[in-house]
Amino acid sequence: MSEQVFNKPKVELHVHLDGAFRVQTIMDIAKRRGIRLPADTTEEMAEYIILQKPATLTEFIGKFAVYMHVIAGDREAIKRIAYEFVEDKAKEGVIYIEVRYSPHLMANTQVDPIPWNQEVGDVSPDEVVQLVNQGLSEGERAFNIKARSILCCMRHMPSWSMEVVELCKKYRKEGVVGIDLAGDESLNCEAQTGHTQAYEEALRCGIHRTVHAGEVGPPSVVQEAVEVLKAERIGHGYRTIEDQNLYKKLLAQNMHFELCPVSSKLTGACDPDFTKHPIIRFRKDRANYSLNTDDPLIFNSTLQLDYSTVQDYMGFTEEEFKRLNINSAQSCFLPDKEKMDLLHKLYEAYGMVQDTAF
Ligand code: NI
Repeated sequence: MSEQVFNKPKVELHVHLDGAFRVQTIMDIAKRRGIRLPADTTEEMAEYIILQKPATLTEFIGKFAVYMHVIAGDREAIKRIAYEFVEDKAKEGVIYIEVRYSPHLMANTQVDPIPWNQEVGDVSPDEVVQLVNQGLSEGERAFNIKARSILCCMRHMPSWSMEVVELCKKYRKEGVVGIDLAGDESLNCEAQTGHTQAYEEALRCGIHRTVHAGEVGPPSVVQEAVEVLKAERIGHGYRTIEDQNLYKKLLAQNMHFELCPVSSKLTGACDPDFTKHPIIRFRKDRANYSLNTDDPLIFNSTLQLDYSTVQDYMGFTEEEFKRLNINSAQSCFLPDKEKMDLLHKLYEAYGMVQDTAF
């Protein structure tokens, strides 16, 4: 492995818990539950899960069906993957992580339809959130990092969205800091009142809001996220630059973009030639953004790979890594006091004079 790029404390804001399991854990749990997998060894199983080369979004989404049924609906498994996730992030030098997931997609009761062809069981979306909260907070104590969560609505399931925002409200004191909208961007949400209503309720209750937009969808999806859903951050947002008016407006508003370089290549969202990547434009314009892994299991990646990719192909410097991590902390969904503590930790680690303006 090459020398570690930016070996300093980092903040990550866009990673899917269900795209970050360990292959070994999937194998262990399948064995315990008597679930047959297409492979007998971890190496072979990894081959089924990992996207090796740029694919389509459909191929990417198909990867989840290879393993989600192993973890979903199993209390011990759900808690374990949350705990291990925190351990993995601590090893990458992340000191604050916001991890997202759809509670419905790990449940096997009180969810319609029941996902992943599971049989009906007794783990509800509500209990999934409790289990993840427990795993994350045990991980926080064991590995000395801060972990918070964001609950995802799914574009194709507007009927789940009001439940998602209610779970955000119910568990805001136990580590849930925001709401997200993930899935197929071709499904317009203005026509889908479930999402709009959920985001209105989030706004009303002070639940922070991010939306996957402009990853593969056109700039109009980004505009809708900001204007209709009142998103405070945009997941990906690469295609925003195709609409210069919108892009300039969002730059002026200091909108935060959650950028995922390795992901954007393997999902086919961006040109696989990194030297032509939209991130280069964001950087040149000193936009407010973070660097994130998105789904490290499926991309066989680490945060290090994202950092070394932008360093090797886009000329990112130590200075820019510091700037983007400070911006990430400033745009995170922690309450002000905790956000300030996080910023101070970064300033100290980076040897910077504290920004008195904050
Ligand atoms: Ni994502």
